[in-house]
Amino acid sequence: MKDPDCIAFLQWALPRLQLRWPGYRKVRRQVCKRVDRRMRALGLDGVEAYRAHLEADPAEWVVLDDLTRITISRFFRERDAFTYLCEVALPELHQRVAQKPIRIWSAGCAAGEEAYTLAIAAHQQNIPLRIVATDSDEHQLVRAREARYSAGCLKELPPHWRMSAFEQKGEEFVLRDELRADVEFLRQDIRRDMPAGPFHLILCRYLTFTYFDARLQRQIAERLLTRTIPNGFIALGKHESWPEDVPGLVEAKPGLRVYRKL
Ligand SMILES: C[S@@+](CC[C@H](N)C(=O)[O-])C[C@H]1O[C@@H](n2cnc3c(N)ncnc32)[C@H](O)[C@@H]1O
Repeated sequence: MKDPDCIAFLQWALPRLQLRWPGYRKVRRQVCKRVDRRMRALGLDGVEAYRAHLEADPAEWVVLDDLTRITISRFFRERDAFTYLCEVALPELHQRVAQKPIRIWSAGCAAGEEAYTLAIAAHQQNIPLRIVATDSDEHQLVRAREARYSAGCLKELPPHWRMSAFEQKGEEFVLRDELRADVEFLRQDIRRDMPAGPFHLILCRYLTFTYFDARLQRQIAERLLTRTIPNGFIALGKHESWPEDVPGLVEAKPGLRVYRKL
């Protein structure tokens, strides 16, 4: 499929799935490849035929929705944001909850990279926590539970963290068992289900506020707020922003897109 054809197709299809084209612009090739494969599997010879197929068969939208999932992640992704979360937010929350575990939700957790980053940081500081990590993609959750990663996935992690938290087996780095114990992985589609909470910290990075349309962003933002304790944190990706028309948060540290619930 030619790039302009795929762009035109995505600009037509994504809003119908409550997704937004600007979020996909840079990563569109992944989705285009999958759509191309799907068209071939259906014996269709172009996007026009695939559009007609979608219009005739509502079940195909569910298939297309799955094809749009972007699963890129890394440990310690965006160093300054994670430094703040690990060195400021975790110790502060620890003080506040006394001896109890800090409750954290990683939404759209991919293969567990951000959840395990926090588990490693907390372990180093003797801070007890419980993390619920959710994703709609079963394949990502299988990877998360296996907790085996390539070196590339760990490249932003401080080297001494990597040495202490992982065991190298051939080309792979395997997370030590004691660091997995505090993380529970659940299959959930954030558009329909969320863990009940309340949480001291929610990470909702590079999912809702990149790929979902404005209305869905608003709905999910409101639900995230109801699951965050007062003065708790909500962390987005540094290239994302909280919907202006959903009040109730202030930036904890400007520029990091880590917010504090009022
Ligand atoms: C780009 S990754 C971001 C991973 C991680 N949060 C980060 O920032 O590094 C987005 C993740 O969200 C998951 N996802 C996509 N749509 C979802 C949905 N509707 N509900 C829950 N998870 C979803 C994908 O499977 C993927 O693992």
